[in-house]
Amino acid sequence: MNIALIMAAGSGKRIGGDIPKQFLEINDNPLLYYTLKVFNESTSIDAIYIVTNKSYFNKVDEISCEFEKVLGNIEGGDTRQESAYKGIKYLTKNGFVDDDVILIHDAARPMVSGEIINNNVLGCLKYDAVVTSVAASDTVIRSYDKDVVNDSEKRSELFLNQTPQTFKLGLLVNSYKKVENELEKYTDDCQIVKNYGHEVHIIPGSKLNFKVTTKEDLELAKSLLK
Ligand code: CTP
Ligand code: MG
Repeated sequence: MNIALIMAAGSGKRIGGDIPKQFLEINDNPLLYYTLKVFNESTSIDAIYIVTNKSYFNKVDEISCEFEKVLGNIEGGDTRQESAYKGIKYLTKNGFVDDDVILIHDAARPMVSGEIINNNVLGCLKYDAVVTSVAASDTVIRSYDKDVVNDSEKRSELFLNQTPQTFKLGLLVNSYKKVENELEKYTDDCQIVKNYGHEVHIIPGSKLNFKVTTKEDLELAKSLLK
């Protein structure tokens, strides 16, 4: 089985306002709707679960009711990685097996393509662990004080991670278990599996698969999701 775990338990601090960004309306539908639509239409996906806060379960049910592959909501946690861990643990307790393919995806990336999803599944069947990533087109610099440039890295070796990040469930559970007391050290699932000692392969992403993070991104998404 190929299962999408849609991460929608964040509060969207960087975008501001009272409504978490995944529920903001873009051209008459909440952002989460567009993300679910792509996964629901993908022939590579068998089931979808949404990780979100309990207080939004009803709202999520309203948004997802037309998508037959959505099987339920899972309560999230205080951080992205806690939410992912709760999602993974739920799947293991509810009948899914080590060999199932789990695509972890940010609800806030509505412009993911069917092709990226297909390639994640194929890559995971081959390697057990893949991450969607794009080559950096700008030079990345490090600044410790956010003012002065300290150093820069070799651009040709730099990639920017996106989602989906896709793993065999057994590998994912073991990787998370190893770091369950220091989850805050990690910003994505790929690092956690890599830290477990398993190679993670890159699936080419797309600039369009950006994460809606700021108000500017929201405007961009509005014009692209017409
Ligand atoms: N997410 C989650 N659980 C959390 C935090 C984030 O499921 N505790 C989800 C978000 O809903 C989002 C995705 O993970 O779809 C990527 O996280 P991010 O872009 O950081 O979203 P927020 O944490 O909501 O935004 P911010 O960091 O600006 O507060
Ligand atoms: Mg966040």
